[in-house]
Amino acid sequence: MAASNWICVVSALTFGVVGSVTSQSINLEQHLQHLTTIRNPSASSNTAWYEARDYISHQFFSYNLTTKFHTFNTSVNVNNNGGTTFTGTNVIGIAEGPADGPVLLVGADFDTTVSQKSPLEDNGAGIAALLEVARLYMDQYHSNELNNVTGTVLFVAFDINTVEYEGQPSGKAGSYLFLHQWLWSYLGQSSERFYGAIILDSISKYNMEERSQVLPDDFQDVFPEAYGDIVNRTNKGDFLALFTRHSEASRRLTEALFDSYEKDRKAMMFRLLDLTLRDGSKYGETFRMFDHQSQFHFWTFQPADKPVPLPAILLTDTDVHRKSPNTCSTNPCTAEEFLTRPAKAFIEKTVESLVQTLASLLIESPEVVTDSGIGLVPSISIMVLAVCLGKLLH
Ligand SMILES: *[C@@H]1O[C@H](CO)[C@@H](O)[C@H](O)[C@H]1NC(C)=O
Ligand SMILES: *[C@@H]1O[C@H](CO)[C@@H](O)[C@H](O)[C@H]1NC(C)=O
Ligand SMILES: *[C@@H]1O[C@H](CO)[C@@H](O)[C@H](O)[C@H]1NC(C)=O
Ligand SMILES: *[C@@H]1O[C@H](CO)[C@@H](O)[C@H](O)[C@H]1NC(C)=O
Repeated sequence: MAASNWICVVSALTFGVVGSVTSQSINLEQHLQHLTTIRNPSASSNTAWYEARDYISHQFFSYNLTTKFHTFNTSVNVNNNGGTTFTGTNVIGIAEGPADGPVLLVGADFDTTVSQKSPLEDNGAGIAALLEVARLYMDQYHSNELNNVTGTVLFVAFDINTVEYEGQPSGKAGSYLFLHQWLWSYLGQSSERFYGAIILDSISKYNMEERSQVLPDDFQDVFPEAYGDIVNRTNKGDFLALFTRHSEASRRLTEALFDSYEKDRKAMMFRLLDLTLRDGSKYGETFRMFDHQSQFHFWTFQPADKPVPLPAILLTDTDVHRKSPNTCSTNPCTAEEFLTRPAKAFIEKTVESLVQTLASLLIESPEVVTDSGIGLVPSISIMVLAVCLGKLLH
């Protein structure tokens, strides 16, 4: 081991307390082990699909979330032989706050298509992150008696995302039906208390290779700034994309997320890239980057004759638009092999930021450390760790 690496190890040990604030307590692998195979109602076996649902609900329950199920029927076009009706289940874990307080949602799809090559990438990683955000939020903030909890968080694992399924159009997606049949009545038919949804959909691919990020032809017209940023970094797939629709209501959520993600910017190799959609722009091919994930149903929500767009954010590695850095030798890929050092750090960064975001919006705490409260010593150690992290990842 080179001398500089020893410095890294020594400083990591010396300043271990800084790094251990959250990252060491995040356990993605345990969840991923339950999400390695195809989870689809029309797959040859439904076992993995049912087991994933049961696993998620048991986890929610063990975190002391109020656990609910929303069952629905929808049709899936099996082998292009017309629609077959299946019963799906959205799993909901509620971190209860005051009845009149704001409501936030964190969601991810737990099913896959029939032919999904990597059930861990899409969207096992999103579900593992969702579970860890729920667990840590409950453990670190919600259950702390010194805190005042001012609002409610709904953690939701969505089932049957028909929009992504192969072949002819099928019935409505589970997340669409969740909005219409569950959430809208939960909110008392009003968007007033709804602070917004954060959707995790394919969040594990972190690729430092040049030209690993593929952009649609009209991307430059739609997001000129982000385009310049990506091209300047030789089209590396080294960022998490944040898609949101421009509105007053979604700004609060977006800002809180950026604040949390960039809090220890010096230490981070990871970036959050702002992809805010504005009305009036023409979205051609770029539209397909964000039209099939669950946040889209919030943006286009129409409970009756008038649209009621709800604030929602999509966090994604851009899925098929980014080359996967993972070269798994097993099929299906095991959780252990999937969770390479960069993938693990990339997902953990998302988990930490989301827990922080929820806390900053909903928790009044005597313990929250403010920016000005972070002294010189921790920032030096964070810088050392940053350099070391860089070394170890390369
Ligand atoms: C859940 O709540 C029970 C009863 O309040 C408590 O004893 C238990 O420690 C809690 N579990 C977790 C994981 O917080
Ligand atoms: C789904 O369809 C089945 C069979 O027709 C029916 O028994 C069940 O009540 C339906 N479930 C829901 C939630 O609509
Ligand atoms: C890209 O690099 C050029 C030249 O260094 C710079 O002028 C420009 O501001 C950069 N664009 C972005 C979006 O970072
Ligand atoms: C929680 O609310 C109570 C009553 O409003 C207040 O006295 C207390 O200071 C609050 N605690 C925190 C940590 O904000």
